[in-house]
Amino acid sequence: MADKDVVGDHEPLLSQEGLRRSSISLAFFKFIGAVLLASAACYLFIGNFNAWTPETENHSLPLEEQDGLNIRPLRKESSVREQQLKKEVCDLSVGEWVPNPEGPAYTDKTCDGIPGYNNCLKNGRPDRGYLYWRWKPRFCDLPPFDPVTFLDAMRDKSWAFIGDSIYQNHVHSLLCQLSQVEEPQILYHDQSFDIITFYFPSHNFTIYEIWAPLLVQYETIDNAGDSSQKYMNLHLDILDSKWTRFYNQYDYMVLSGSPWFYKPSIIFEKSEVIGCHYCPGLELKEYGAARAYRKALQLTLNFIAASEHKPFVIVRTWPPSHYEAGDSPTERICNRTKPFREGEISGAPADLNMREVEIEEYEKAAPIGARNGVRIELLDFYHPFLLRPDGHPGPYGTYHPFDGGKKQNDENDCIHWCLPGPIDNVNDMLMKMVINGDIHDSASAML
Ligand SMILES: *[C@@H]1O[C@H](CO)[C@@H](O)[C@H](O)[C@H]1NC(C)=O
Ligand SMILES: *[C@@H]1O[C@H](CO)[C@@H](O)[C@H](O)[C@H]1NC(C)=O
Ligand SMILES: *[C@@H]1O[C@H](CO)[C@@H](O)[C@H](O)[C@H]1NC(C)=O
Repeated sequence: MADKDVVGDHEPLLSQEGLRRSSISLAFFKFIGAVLLASAACYLFIGNFNAWTPETENHSLPLEEQDGLNIRPLRKESSVREQQLKKEVCDLSVGEWVPNPEGPAYTDKTCDGIPGYNNCLKNGRPDRGYLYWRWKPRFCDLPPFDPVTFLDAMRDKSWAFIGDSIYQNHVHSLLCQLSQVEEPQILYHDQSFDIITFYFPSHNFTIYEIWAPLLVQYETIDNAGDSSQKYMNLHLDILDSKWTRFYNQYDYMVLSGSPWFYKPSIIFEKSEVIGCHYCPGLELKEYGAARAYRKALQLTLNFIAASEHKPFVIVRTWPPSHYEAGDSPTERICNRTKPFREGEISGAPADLNMREVEIEEYEKAAPIGARNGVRIELLDFYHPFLLRPDGHPGPYGTYHPFDGGKKQNDENDCIHWCLPGPIDNVNDMLMKMVINGDIHDSASAML
């Protein structure tokens, strides 16, 4: 198989998947006929994922936040609540990464849609070990994502993924897995590609990928291109219309805020400035990134819990990053090649705080939603993915970064994820939550 060259000293990719994959191949060939006409156009679209994703965004954090990001080994993860967990049927966030000889469900050869900056295989990342792990929750099994079953279950349905570039990263992972069965088409995008609608014609299934990193409305203020003068105006009392615009069409939605809350911002309520975050020189009162995030989440979850439209809502927790060492942004690295074990990393205090805010606001909103018939669930992304320092592109977000003895000048990427890579496991978790539905009880969670 053409994939052999990507696997190094491991088993050939896909070779052990046997029955599962051959049934996918059959289904795939069946669909080839059906989508032949569409696929010419579609290929162009898929081949151009790159062009659609805001690639130029600066994800660097203010230096105050960077200080908190260093790895601090050997401190017990404090927020895993052992006592409470035993009572639940299965908390997906408690578990460990275990070896997975099967490897990933797709490669750069079998998915055309992997953006260049996540395409670690194509970009020459030398180690392959990071592809051979799967998340094993302690109290239950987590079967691998099955695109055939997923697409069948999602006939006539739609999902919305609302957030930042980490969401796009995850949507691309899902599209890669689903495209092994049916290639998606682009049905719609707005002018700035902030809203992109992917459509699977044979299943009448739609995915909305929506850029709304702060959940609330913001404007970027760029003073004469001087990056030290770059702020966002953040309106804590106005939801971002990018995600509310098509709200009545979502059957499922996955959302959270993002490290964009760490960026310099001037904070508004009722069109009045009420403070700022990280704005030295502006003589405004520091409002606090976590406090701003809490307000934005409250506005979002109150809207959802009280709405007439009742999608199945999944609140995803904060994305961890793994920058280590280095005094300046260009010196910081993430070159580990194996997952951490529980207790080997505690997480950055600022990030842990953001996750606490999410859990608190989720716990307030879920019962209100339940009374109104809106199901709101928590997907604790932060904890399992904190254990994967090995899954980021690092320098391999660019093509063969060290060719010809080049010295690295770009910043390492230690926050997005290689595709394929650990983030593919989120699809296993989503499938468990919405289709197998036995997270809290034996009743199916299917709508
Ligand atoms: C990104 O932003 C950080 C802080 O906001 C700044 O120090 C850095 O120079 C910026 N990098 C680029 C490439 O614009
Ligand atoms: C596709 O699904 C939508 C609901 O999402 C439904 O209104 C529409 O009738 C379906 N179309 C077909 C052709 O089944
Ligand atoms: C990671 O980088 C550090 C600093 O350059 C180096 O000491 C270490 O050996 C590297 N680790 C791996 C696994 O390459």
